[in-house]
Amino acid sequence: MSSQGTQPAVRTVASTQSEMTEIVLPNDTNMLGNLLGGRLMHFIDVTGAMAAYRHARTHVVTAAMDHIDFIQPVRLGDLVTLKSSVNRAFTSSMEVGVKVWAENTRTGSVAHVASAYLVFVAVDEHGRVQKVPQLTPETPDEIRRYEGALRRRELRENEKTHRKEAKLATAALADSGLIEP
Ligand SMILES: CC(C)(COP(=O)(O)OP(=O)(O)OC[C@H]1O[C@@H](n2cnc3c(N)ncnc32)[C@H](O)[C@@H]1OP(=O)(O)O)[C@@H](O)C(=O)NCCC(=O)NCCS
Repeated sequence: MSSQGTQPAVRTVASTQSEMTEIVLPNDTNMLGNLLGGRLMHFIDVTGAMAAYRHARTHVVTAAMDHIDFIQPVRLGDLVTLKSSVNRAFTSSMEVGVKVWAENTRTGSVAHVASAYLVFVAVDEHGRVQKVPQLTPETPDEIRRYEGALRRRELRENEKTHRKEAKLATAALADSGLIEP
């Protein structure tokens, strides 16, 4: 695994902060005039990638998107604003937090509608995994998110192990003819 020679060893959270605003158009909505969940996930992925790019300064790919709660519907014509920043950098991966608000353009009211954590991995142009600079949290909120990111990484790793074990157990049952493969 290599790293970018000219990169600083450490970056701040502020240097990764990114923002995107979209207007919800008819093509983005379901029959009820609400923003499609998949469309919102796309916006979350894109805004999350912006923060990861600003940290890694190389190509990044989405490795995982954690559980997302859609807290309330976003309506046709609303302005959707997404803000992202890197919570913590590991060796080649970064946890990015994305928070989403919807603004009613007529009343001006703004509501928090969704939040998500994503993991991006830095890669070179051949898809080979690359080292990323470390991240220094500065404010109390940044430190809280930095510490939370380590706990969430452990949870993801545990889940990955459980999924692997379940897959092996299913394959063993299929091999012994107890279940259909
Ligand atoms: C993400 C990817 C580059 C990881 O490759 P890999 O060979 O598994 O790499 P490694 O095992 O060396 O892991 C590299 C890093 O990725 C992290 N990682 C890999 N899979 C992960 C997952 N499912 N969730 C979270 N992190 C993951 C590892 O923890 C490791 O982090 P670290 O270096 O900071 O410790 C590879 O799985 C890939 O290219 N996936 C497809 C990405 C893509 O196409 N995304 C768009 C999907 S629509």
